[in-house]
Amino acid sequence: MAILVTGGAGYIGSHMTHALAEREEEVIVLDNLSTGFDWAVAPAATLLVGDVGDADLLDMIFATHDIEAVVHFAGSIVVPESVENPLKYYANNTVNSRTLIAAAVKAGVKHFIFSSTAAVYGIPPHSPADEETPTAPINPYGRSKLMTEWMLQDVAAAHPLSYVALRYFNVAGADPKGRTGQSTPAATHLIKVACQTVLGQREKMFIFGDDYDTPDGTCIRDYIHVSDLIAAHLDALDYLRKGGESAVFNCGYGHGHSVREVIDMVKKVSGVDFPVEMAPRRAGDPPELVAAAEKIRTALGWRPQFDNLEEIVASALAWERHLQRRNLTSDKVAEEVA
Ligand code: UFG
Repeated sequence: MAILVTGGAGYIGSHMTHALAEREEEVIVLDNLSTGFDWAVAPAATLLVGDVGDADLLDMIFATHDIEAVVHFAGSIVVPESVENPLKYYANNTVNSRTLIAAAVKAGVKHFIFSSTAAVYGIPPHSPADEETPTAPINPYGRSKLMTEWMLQDVAAAHPLSYVALRYFNVAGADPKGRTGQSTPAATHLIKVACQTVLGQREKMFIFGDDYDTPDGTCIRDYIHVSDLIAAHLDALDYLRKGGESAVFNCGYGHGHSVREVIDMVKKVSGVDFPVEMAPRRAGDPPELVAAAEKIRTALGWRPQFDNLEEIVASALAWERHLQRRNLTSDKVAEEVA
């Protein structure tokens, strides 16, 4: 039986295709390549280029492949963009998820693993936030994902489908084997932006707000290495296959770092003192988001291997250098051809 990975050409999804291929699972990827890259997908996987919101295509995929589980990464992920263009987020994250869940139920798919987000907590009343913390998202991104969690909860109660929703905290870093990483050119995420600044792709970077009620005034996040996040997905798959009940789990380490601490670490790891300027707060940013991370360890036996900001930053920087080398090489080839 096969596993359908939506968004398998994207940052996190592509790591999943490599991990599943290593376990010799049959992997079908559905990705519209809007932000993903075909080269990022594990060579052993079958890539189908298309949209998760295309019900006819989904019916065709479920009819021609014996899909046991869906791992649903495809979606839009940039918090400030969701504030400016909420309907894009409700379409890509909520409406398309409904189409996918409906097709999966119709085809009798057994298991569903969903990429949810810490953004469902909004500004949590206490930190760290555990899975019982009331959900109260403060931006359209968080709301668009929370609605999909609700759909899954209701669908799993009514149909023979079990699911795990993983609430990602701040995912960063790249594949330690160098096969894939965060490759979106117009990235907005802190560690990626800082690494691009190290490499001179940006003249400077900004800190969005230093007047938050935190020790150094900048926002605090729980940064999790993408490889540990992928391990959580594999654990979730094993759990569901063994008959585990549908559940929601935080994916974070249980401690956070401020924006300033992250930037200082990027400077330390790279040895480059790049310019950083202050800027006003960014819309939709909660001051502190840190995971209470016990439930996933207890229920899934998750054991993270990369809980170390220096290592996360080093792997993100190595990937950024790799991307830059590739671009330089292709520019050179283009010049030679010209
Ligand atoms: N930041 C800066 N400068 C930058 C980029 C970011 O100061 O150039 C700050 C942000 O204001 C924020 C922090 O760094 O305080 C982290 O911002 P990111 O954009 O890296 O990540 P977010 O916290 O906004 O969002 C990410 C994911 C979401 C997820 C969320 C959970 O994109 O999917 O983490 O914490 F929901």
